[in-house]
Amino acid sequence: MKYIGSKAKIANEIVPILQSYISAYNIKQYVEPFAGGFNVIDKIQCEYRLGNDIDPLVCELVEACRENPALLDELNTPSRAEYYDVRDNPDKYPCWYRAAVLLFGSYNARVYGGCYGATAVTKDGKTRNYFNEACENFRRQLPALRNILVGCCDYRELRLPERERVLVYCDPPYSDGIGYGGGKFDTAQFWEWCRTQTAAGHIVIVSEYAAPDDFVCIWQHEITTHLNNRNKQNRIEKLFIHGGAQWHKYTT
Ligand SMILES: C[S@@+](CC[C@H](N)C(=O)[O-])C[C@H]1O[C@@H](n2cnc3c(N)ncnc32)[C@H](O)[C@@H]1O
Repeated sequence: MKYIGSKAKIANEIVPILQSYISAYNIKQYVEPFAGGFNVIDKIQCEYRLGNDIDPLVCELVEACRENPALLDELNTPSRAEYYDVRDNPDKYPCWYRAAVLLFGSYNARVYGGCYGATAVTKDGKTRNYFNEACENFRRQLPALRNILVGCCDYRELRLPERERVLVYCDPPYSDGIGYGGGKFDTAQFWEWCRTQTAAGHIVIVSEYAAPDDFVCIWQHEITTHLNNRNKQNRIEKLFIHGGAQWHKYTT
């Protein structure tokens, strides 16, 4: 799914790493506290998968459409006026519909505080329908979303099992980033939460650009991120594991 901060482009590299932990430790439960567009968890093979996100829009859309993919046939590319009406009048529309219009129709998938981007005229003068592209992309993803438990809460409210080792893959808002609702995401508190999970016996792997010293980098790759058409940045995507020597030697 088109989603801000999506890992779709690097999923083919990080999924095998996560999968290697699932095999090496015979993991039965995989949890993603920050599932976003479900672009990593949809490719993971594990007996139980829980995809959680604090954003109700994405949770609504996944749950409604995987039960009833025909809902997507009801969608038409929104005009600018329709988009802002849906954005500004939450009670007027069904949740799944509002989620689809905002997630597929916002510029660069910036649902909160973003602007209309359902269609745009490209450099060669043609009109590109980003809304339809995002909708079809999501339709293709739907079969892979079956059997994923969907949670919708703050990651700190998740209760992981006490007697079973879980693989937890975290892709939180980046440390200089904005958290859900517009506030700053408290990264220091997040690292503390990871430590608590490792102490409870779970394996915690995190996508971030940098991490405290007790987290070991197990993979990195330079990629170009497009903040918008004019603003491109090269950044080094990394995966970290907490508990270093305890786990990291088992990676591929
Ligand atoms: C970088 S995105 C995840 C992208 C996802 N890995 C993908 O490939 O589509 C980070 C996600 O964290 C969610 N988030 C932010 N604060 C959160 C919190 N306190 N608890 C749970 N989820 C949160 C955001 O709603 C966002 O979907």
